[in-house]
Amino acid sequence: MQTHEIRKRFLDHFVKAGHTEVPSASVILDDPNLLFVNAGMVQFVPYFLGQQTPAWNRAVSVQKCIRTPDIDEVGITTRHNTFFQMAGNFSFGDYFKKQAIEFAWTLLTNPVDQGGYGFEPDRLWATVYLDDDEAIGYWQEVAGLPLERIQRRGMADNYWSMGIPGPCGPSSEIYYDRGPEYGVEGGPEANEDRYIEIWNLVFMQNERGEGTSKEDFEILGPLPRKNIDTGMGIERVACLLQGVDNVYETDLVRPVIDLVAGIAPRGYGQGNHDDDVRYRIIADHSRTSAIIIGDGVSPGNEGRGYVLRRLLRRIIRAAKLLGVEQPIMADLMTTVRDEMGPSYPELVNDFERIQRIAVAEETAFNRTLASGSRLFDEAAGATKAKGATVLSGTDAFTLHDTYGFPIELTLEMAAEHGLTVDEPGFRGLMAEQRARAKADAAARKQAHSDLSAYRDLVDTGPTEFTGFDELSSEARILGIFVDGKRVPVVSHDGGAAAPDRVELILDRTPFYAESGGQIADEGAITGAGASSAAKAAVTDVQKIAKTLWAHRVRVESGEFVEGDTVVAAVDQRWRHGATQGHSGTHMVHAALREVLGPNAVQAGSLNRPGYLRFDFNWQGALSEEQRSQIEEVTNQAVEADYEVNTFITEFEKAKAMGAMALFGEQYPEQVRVVEIGGPFSLELCGGTHVHNSAQIGPVTILGESSVGSGVRRVEAYVGLDSFRHLAKERALMAGLASSLKVPSEEVPARVANLVERLRAAEKELDRLRLANARAAAVNAAAGAELVGKVRLVAQRMAGGMSAGDLRTLVGDVRGKLGSDPAVVALIAEGEADSVPFVVAVNAAAQDLGLRANDLVKTLGAPVNGRGGGKADLAQGSGKGAAGIDAALAALRAEIDRS
Ligand code: ALA
Repeated sequence: MQTHEIRKRFLDHFVKAGHTEVPSASVILDDPNLLFVNAGMVQFVPYFLGQQTPAWNRAVSVQKCIRTPDIDEVGITTRHNTFFQMAGNFSFGDYFKKQAIEFAWTLLTNPVDQGGYGFEPDRLWATVYLDDDEAIGYWQEVAGLPLERIQRRGMADNYWSMGIPGPCGPSSEIYYDRGPEYGVEGGPEANEDRYIEIWNLVFMQNERGEGTSKEDFEILGPLPRKNIDTGMGIERVACLLQGVDNVYETDLVRPVIDLVAGIAPRGYGQGNHDDDVRYRIIADHSRTSAIIIGDGVSPGNEGRGYVLRRLLRRIIRAAKLLGVEQPIMADLMTTVRDEMGPSYPELVNDFERIQRIAVAEETAFNRTLASGSRLFDEAAGATKAKGATVLSGTDAFTLHDTYGFPIELTLEMAAEHGLTVDEPGFRGLMAEQRARAKADAAARKQAHSDLSAYRDLVDTGPTEFTGFDELSSEARILGIFVDGKRVPVVSHDGGAAAPDRVELILDRTPFYAESGGQIADEGAITGAGASSAAKAAVTDVQKIAKTLWAHRVRVESGEFVEGDTVVAAVDQRWRHGATQGHSGTHMVHAALREVLGPNAVQAGSLNRPGYLRFDFNWQGALSEEQRSQIEEVTNQAVEADYEVNTFITEFEKAKAMGAMALFGEQYPEQVRVVEIGGPFSLELCGGTHVHNSAQIGPVTILGESSVGSGVRRVEAYVGLDSFRHLAKERALMAGLASSLKVPSEEVPARVANLVERLRAAEKELDRLRLANARAAAVNAAAGAELVGKVRLVAQRMAGGMSAGDLRTLVGDVRGKLGSDPAVVALIAEGEADSVPFVVAVNAAAQDLGLRANDLVKTLGAPVNGRGGGKADLAQGSGKGAAGIDAALAALRAEIDRS
């Protein structure tokens, strides 16, 4: 049965049983603790936790999942994928254990001609959590499983969580027995390669806290309702139903192997295990990379970008080890698109970008491999020469930092040379570098990673945002936190006045909390009624768990008590500036796409009053013409005074209208759309905006730069700041015009003229200097002294000469000395304390045993210089003009001795 069919049957089975089909979420969700979505349930976490209420209580999905912790197992075992599709059915407080078991069992065992997968019931096993007798009972009752094919297992195997705080619960897994050729008997407890896990049913009923491993975490308590979360591995089921040996040979993955086998000198399945593993790595990682890029990640040096880079580089490296010489990334991506496109249209729609990014990394890495390999060979050679076996952490760090070698690559290459790597040393240097990079960001924000203190409030309900309609709102203080700890009261003289230490959480607020690139509002919170003396300046506002607005404040007078009524007021001018910045960002985005086309995809943005910056995917720098075109289009749209409309609609409708959404963001079903000038700009956005585009004021693009491979950044001033910037430039220009004594429009011509004259003067100066020097040299030739049998010219030349100048002169002088033995040595005070010198020896002097390349050393020593060359001509350079006389004397003495 083909993979697409397996997917379809799963969805059909559960839709028929009253489940709503929910599309796969992006593999990147807005959770800093989760690198990638690794299970179907991730997009439903707020429903399990009771933070949000879903519109349905049964759902079914096939989720794109990325799991990279087992990356080293890929290709070695028969069942590890870094990308896989998890089919799952979910109940939010609706059905529980019995029905979950029943649904799974019928789909697995129903005959193929009745919509099922047709697995032989006798080959299926189940596991349950230690004391889950209830589940054992249902397996017997519903599925007729005999007790000997039900095994009890502990926390590590049968208690599921995301690995981070969140929903969790005991689970029951279904295994398929592949038969004795895959290993010993005894069920999943004995051998997980023979008994392969195909489906995990999680009875999601508790909430877990922090912890260090699968077995060690605190259970905080029960969830509001009992839920079901299941996950069936589509690739594993495909492997079984297609009768192939491993997940890499299933219908959608195998074509990548075949593609490479058509190019590589050694084929797949020819008995070389290492080669087969390489083929499987390429097949697995190609799919994963395409999916990750499709969801908006570009290769980088941290976090998700680094995972992607590592995957792509492992592909390239594996191909090299298979003997593939030519670039293959473009073809790999094409094959992945052809196989996966029917289920994931984003791979087709966005193919050009996906392929471009993957190929760019391949090109860059091939260059890197070439130069890095040289460095590696040197380092490995030096290590061995010392008789050592450990490559230093510094070498590994340089390879990483300068040449982009993933540490794993260095490890592999070292192993090929019989070396190991000082990994702790390497990690230490990496940590130092990261700490430096992050010090800045960390100084600004106290991360809300520990949410436990806020839990009660999160449960009480969200903060109501009033800021679209008003700038000042009356509100109640729900909670007060100092340094992340809840307190009943905070006062100005209580020592907690410093900003960033005190947070006020309100039931409603007009303050915009930082998100979507717009920074938080500033303003004040003041007491009302009894506590009217209380006043605090708001310095930052961040969302906690997406629902609570935490106002970071500096308490300036009086005291705030939990439960008090206060007035929260946003600084009007600040907000006006912020709306200009945010609307300006939309305008620049729209203009950018008008000028560059739809491939200029947003990669990030930031705006604050008066300023905006916008990052987008684009290869190569923008031309000056493109830059000014973007500016022109933006300002025309400002001038057109477009109306700005915001409205709420369904995500799908907004998408159909062509609204631009950010890659990797998860959007709720109802989204807010900001429309400026109808089709001109249409974006999903929760930010605050001006009412008419003219209110943005002028937009001045400052410049355009690169922020990493394939990502460009434009920065701009808006409104009054834009005007001030232009005014400053005008003043600068006026200053220039006045000092050049021309009207400003003539400044460029005048400057060009000045530069040209300066160049001509410099040339003339050079010519004169050389002529002078030549004259001096001719004199010098005339005044050659006889040292022994040799006619010697040893002379200090005028300042500012280069080695090149000296070489020209030395030839001139030697020519004038005739055929008797002659030596010419010229030394000068060069630029920046350098001391260039040149020695020439004619044929007759060489016959006496004199060599320019020896003499140059004698000459160089007193000026701390080194030099070399041939017997007839040699040159060098030193430092410190004080040694020049001594150098000439040493040379003379040397010739005298000869
Ligand atoms: N969430 C469960 C898993 O990933 C189904 O295995």
